[in-house]
Amino acid sequence: GKVGVLFGGRSAEREVSIMSGTGVLSALQSLGVDAHAFDPGVQSLAELAEQKFDRVFIALHGRYGEDGTLQGALEQLGIPYTGSGVLASALAMDKAMTKRIWLASGLSTPKFAMLSGASDWAAIAQYLELPLIVKPAHEGSTMGLTKVTEVSQLPAAYALAARFDSAVIAEQFIEGIELTCAILGKDESAHALPLIRIAAPDANYDYQNKYFTDDTQYFCPSGLPEEQARAIQEMMVASYKVLGCRGWGRGDVMVRASDNKAFLLEMNTSPGMTGHSLVPMAARVAGLGYAELCLEILKMAEL
Ligand code: DAL
Ligand code: MG
Repeated sequence: GKVGVLFGGRSAEREVSIMSGTGVLSALQSLGVDAHAFDPGVQSLAELAEQKFDRVFIALHGRYGEDGTLQGALEQLGIPYTGSGVLASALAMDKAMTKRIWLASGLSTPKFAMLSGASDWAAIAQYLELPLIVKPAHEGSTMGLTKVTEVSQLPAAYALAARFDSAVIAEQFIEGIELTCAILGKDESAHALPLIRIAAPDANYDYQNKYFTDDTQYFCPSGLPEEQARAIQEMMVASYKVLGCRGWGRGDVMVRASDNKAFLLEMNTSPGMTGHSLVPMAARVAGLGYAELCLEILKMAEL
């Protein structure tokens, strides 16, 4: 059938999505799939309906692509799509809602607080302890994120995050090892790919170090003891299932240096598929090439 690769879009991560979508489109085409590019950032939903796609691969990141709104439109149009449904997409896009669900399910995630322009900065710093992370609740790719080491930096960190989002979250910073875990499948078939350990320059895995420099080092397998790695993978699969995710996703996690305790940071329901991205890296280690991974994800598309 005819496949649409949706990419671009109109979120702050448009540039990343163009890199992801370009990769996915040519990979599917290389396998003989009748795949066509479609950019909801410049084309309307009416035009999407006219394309008569039999299914679509969502290679969009952030708002209007990863957050459940597009998924809702595709449900209305009756077009099967890759990845999570409306609710899981919306939940995972919201870092605070995600954390509330994890906490309610007994999964550990760093302590947090919502910020407003009227927040008592000293009280926030005392509650979360410094350093802490300030970030928009609904963004990806570390957009608008600041690591705050002194109370005096809090107002500016808040102002930056508030440029992206009306909901701003402050989260305790976990000093330790940064890991990410790709997950494929749903319900009983949900399974983790090998963990990747991320070693960014100065532990600063920001937009540049994610997509544009070659200074970040990735270790897959992670080098963690097997038992510890397996426990973290199980935690990641649980964190994915409890949000109701399906198809594919990528969870980010920190392992605290002082006691090896793992803390969930977030779940990405439409992870990056760029040349620097991590789901393809983990898949490759598991024996699944980039194109085969795209096809696997596409096959799991549903309504
Ligand atoms: N938000 C980016 C695309 C990611 O999680 O990979
Ligand atoms: Mg993210």
